[in-house]
Amino acid sequence: MRVNQLKDISKNHVNQMIEAMAMLLEVKVKTSKNEKRYADMVIQDASKRMEVKCWDYDDHEGLLSSLEANAVVMLRGIVGEYQGQLQLTIKQLQKAEEAEIKMETLIPVSDWGAETLQKGLQFFYDKIKNPQMRELVSRMIFNEAFFDKYCTYPAARQVHHNFYNGLLQHTLEVLKYAITVATTKKLTDRQQDRLIVMGLLHDWAKIIEYTPLPAIGFTDAGTMLGHIFLGAHTALNIMNEIKGFDEEDKLIILNGLLSHHGKLEFGSPVLPKTVEAQILHHADKMSGDIESILSFMQQQEDNSDSFTGKLWNMGTDYYRRGV
Ligand SMILES: [Fe+2]
Ligand SMILES: [Fe+2]
Repeated sequence: MRVNQLKDISKNHVNQMIEAMAMLLEVKVKTSKNEKRYADMVIQDASKRMEVKCWDYDDHEGLLSSLEANAVVMLRGIVGEYQGQLQLTIKQLQKAEEAEIKMETLIPVSDWGAETLQKGLQFFYDKIKNPQMRELVSRMIFNEAFFDKYCTYPAARQVHHNFYNGLLQHTLEVLKYAITVATTKKLTDRQQDRLIVMGLLHDWAKIIEYTPLPAIGFTDAGTMLGHIFLGAHTALNIMNEIKGFDEEDKLIILNGLLSHHGKLEFGSPVLPKTVEAQILHHADKMSGDIESILSFMQQQEDNSDSFTGKLWNMGTDYYRRGV
């Protein structure tokens, strides 16, 4: 039976053979206790990412070892159930026909839509009054070298906003939350300008830290330096080139970028030292946490229990009913 999307695989398919198109993200070859080789694989389409098993690795070795990274495959597999979770065991695999592949069905995309995301970015940029801060943003975002990446990159490898346009959606969520607090507490125009700049740039360096979708991984610079340093470093270099950039604004913006993870143990080298930096940190955490809970619940749609499994980054399970 052909399923259109991986998320359509349900308990109704248990013990049946299904056929689906998916992107092959990972193949880990392992050896079982009886010396037989098998593969733990990760597949995905736009609807879902799944771990699957291939017990007869030797039968598929020729194909699997010849595939390039993130190859698109047609697969046939048997659906099973283990401890309440659906499992898929691959039985047959072949490279998908080039003409049949539609990338947008294989990579998850932000459901805000490209136009809304672009409008949101322009909206917050237009709010910045200080000309030097506007120039900083225009050189880091509205710049040929960075713009496409900034608009299409994911915001995280796992956990939250790990989809096409994810960085921009996350950035706009952070700004919406942050601006609500800033206006409620009547921050000055200068504070609000700094907060918007910090929000727009806080995860900017993920475009350097990560390799592009569909295979989100770390670049060498990402592994060695991380987006917190890379963002602050790039921003400082550019601020130093902009004539008349206020020294105090520089300091506050840099502190905001460096401290946005909120705690030293979460990778920030310094703590938030201004109200703007503290708001940025809370807004960032809110956006990441809420998205991770909602997407986790969605991934577990085939789970009929009242509670999800434990969401590791939040340290608890969530009640799934009452929606
Ligand atoms: Fe970050
Ligand atoms: Fe962030």
